[in-house]
Amino acid sequence: MMAGPGGVSPAGGGPARHIPVLLDEVLAALGAVEGKTVIDGTFGAGGYTAALLERGASVIAIDRDPEAVAAGRSLEARWAGKLRLVHGQFSELDIVAGEPVDAVVLDIGVSSMQLDEAERGFSFRQEGPLDMRMAKEGMSAADVVNRFQAGDLARIFGILGEEKHAGRIARMIEKRRKEKPFETTLDLANAIERLVGRNPRDKIHPATRVFQGLRIFVNDELGELARALFAAERVLKPGGRLAVVTFHSLEDRIVKRFLSARSGLSGGS
Ligand SMILES: C[S@@+](CC[C@H](N)C(=O)[O-])C[C@H]1O[C@@H](n2cnc3c(N)ncnc32)[C@H](O)[C@@H]1O
Repeated sequence: MMAGPGGVSPAGGGPARHIPVLLDEVLAALGAVEGKTVIDGTFGAGGYTAALLERGASVIAIDRDPEAVAAGRSLEARWAGKLRLVHGQFSELDIVAGEPVDAVVLDIGVSSMQLDEAERGFSFRQEGPLDMRMAKEGMSAADVVNRFQAGDLARIFGILGEEKHAGRIARMIEKRRKEKPFETTLDLANAIERLVGRNPRDKIHPATRVFQGLRIFVNDELGELARALFAAERVLKPGGRLAVVTFHSLEDRIVKRFLSARSGLSGGS
């Protein structure tokens, strides 16, 4: 497992990924890949996949975001026979692969493409619909914010966002939405800023952690990660390698616990 860059990006809800993060570290963790088959479970902008192909690997790449997959089709055409790009969830990476593989890599989080596009609703810095669905289907962030009881919202913000004002923010939302439902990113971000204020010394926007919690909940990111680790274990050949780049402590803990339990380094708790 590799540690992510840490902290929460000021850009909104997660790290911006124009340049593949920790690429050298990932390549070092995977070792020589020439002639090997690697699953890249988080294709994104294809940074990892391209580097693996250039080093002689065959790659099965997956992304749940239909826009990321559409943008990656030209890379797939360029590497015909070496790259298979699939629209799907990494929790099913063993089913997608359909055969044992030598390595699996996951780079968890939101991509710069998702963050930069206001219409996707991930960023509290740009006006857009309160959406946040990577797969563009299912319950949106607006559905959660406008329908869930304050207690459940507080748990989402507190547990998944690690937001210390979770209860106050949830109660404010419950009250405000009776007058007018929350529909846009800036509407929610500004309401949070008005409630909790902003210390000029704070490195992050006061809505950062609420947005993080909503994004993780809407996309079931922790459930996906846990299932992906088991799927990786099923699909890896003996001696195969798994590299996971995580961004915050909740993901980090899931990966560390899994690896120490399954590699026999702990009592299996
Ligand atoms: C941080 S980006 C990956 C960047 C990539 N390593 C690169 O070099 O361009 C994460 C990507 O994983 C995708 N993703 C997140 N959760 C996923 C899941 N459960 N299944 C498949 N793709 C997922 C997102 O849609 C996003 O495109």
